[in-house]
Amino acid sequence: MRGEASRRKRCLLLGVVVVVVVVAVLAVVLGLTLNRSSDHLRSTVIGRCETFLKKNTDVSRVNDCERIWGAFEEAYVGKDPCDVPAEAYNPLIISVTEHVICNTMLFWSKTKAMVHAFTDNRECLVTLEDTLLGFIFDELTWCSKNGSKETFTTGCPGWSECQNNPVRSFWMRASANFAATSCGNVSAMLNGSLESPFSSTSVFGSVEVKSLAPDKVGSLTVLLVTKETDTTTCASSSFQSLRSALDPKIAYNCRQVPYDQVENCISDPEIPCSDCL
Ligand SMILES: *[C@@H]1O[C@H](CO)[C@@H](O)[C@H](O)[C@H]1NC(C)=O
Ligand SMILES: *[C@@H]1O[C@H](CO)[C@@H](O)[C@H](O)[C@H]1NC(C)=O
Ligand SMILES: *[C@@H]1O[C@H](CO)[C@@H](O)[C@H](O)[C@H]1NC(C)=O
Ligand SMILES: *[C@@H]1O[C@H](CO)[C@@H](O)[C@H](O)[C@H]1NC(C)=O
Repeated sequence: MRGEASRRKRCLLLGVVVVVVVVAVLAVVLGLTLNRSSDHLRSTVIGRCETFLKKNTDVSRVNDCERIWGAFEEAYVGKDPCDVPAEAYNPLIISVTEHVICNTMLFWSKTKAMVHAFTDNRECLVTLEDTLLGFIFDELTWCSKNGSKETFTTGCPGWSECQNNPVRSFWMRASANFAATSCGNVSAMLNGSLESPFSSTSVFGSVEVKSLAPDKVGSLTVLLVTKETDTTTCASSSFQSLRSALDPKIAYNCRQVPYDQVENCISDPEIPCSDCL
């Protein structure tokens, strides 16, 4: 009888030990494999920020990557992912110091790959994604939840799922800031393969064109990238809506730029910018 009881006790104890060990192992494995997405996003953001500041030594002393991360988190952490307005990023915008060079601002719509292949190797033109904030957050996704302290990088609302989602609001705010700080003669690379290269609902059409300051910006030149087979020209009626969205004090120009010419300049960074666009 006694032996029976103690054997049962030992069995029970063994059972408990096995369960504890299994739970502990599971926790460790899960902790290692389930990437903490906040930590991952944080290291991407800080890493890109430091890369940018290493390349742009003129602004490296006046910017603090940890401070930028803090101001960024403040905008969306703990909030409903459909309730983050563009203004939530005001502290982030203020946390960054950058020098703008007049006459270099280049906007784009539906030409993202080409425009960046071009500006990556040249100093003559600068897109939003060549500035510190645009460079850091290009192609990233993030959101949190109502009342949560966490950041998620998957399962976030898509661009048009709801208006005030953290990613869309960021780009609205950053684009408005980029346009509002523009000065001199600015340009926009648009896609001549499309029937309507200008869309009033694009970020360029809905935010950037309207944020250009008429006391600082002299002109906006559309660079319409066209292939030989394209039928769209600067005469396209789509540019009527661009002209009506643009402040009348800002001069409007449009120039057709051959697609092959831009491609040629992308493959040979030695060709001067003035021969490219
Ligand atoms: C986990 O994190 C590493 C870097 O910290 C990253 O390279 C990898 O893509 C992440 N994996 C997943 C599934 O998110
Ligand atoms: C213009 O848009 C088409 C269709 O989306 C795309 O295939 C093409 O690469 C774009 N052209 C440029 C110059 O980006
Ligand atoms: C979630 O958000 C709503 C308002 O959008 C608020 O009333 C509610 O208290 C929030 N819940 C938590 C847990 O924070
Ligand atoms: C913008 O271009 C016009 C000619 O189109 C020129 O007169 C003017 O000086 C330029 N502005 C700046 C700031 O370079």
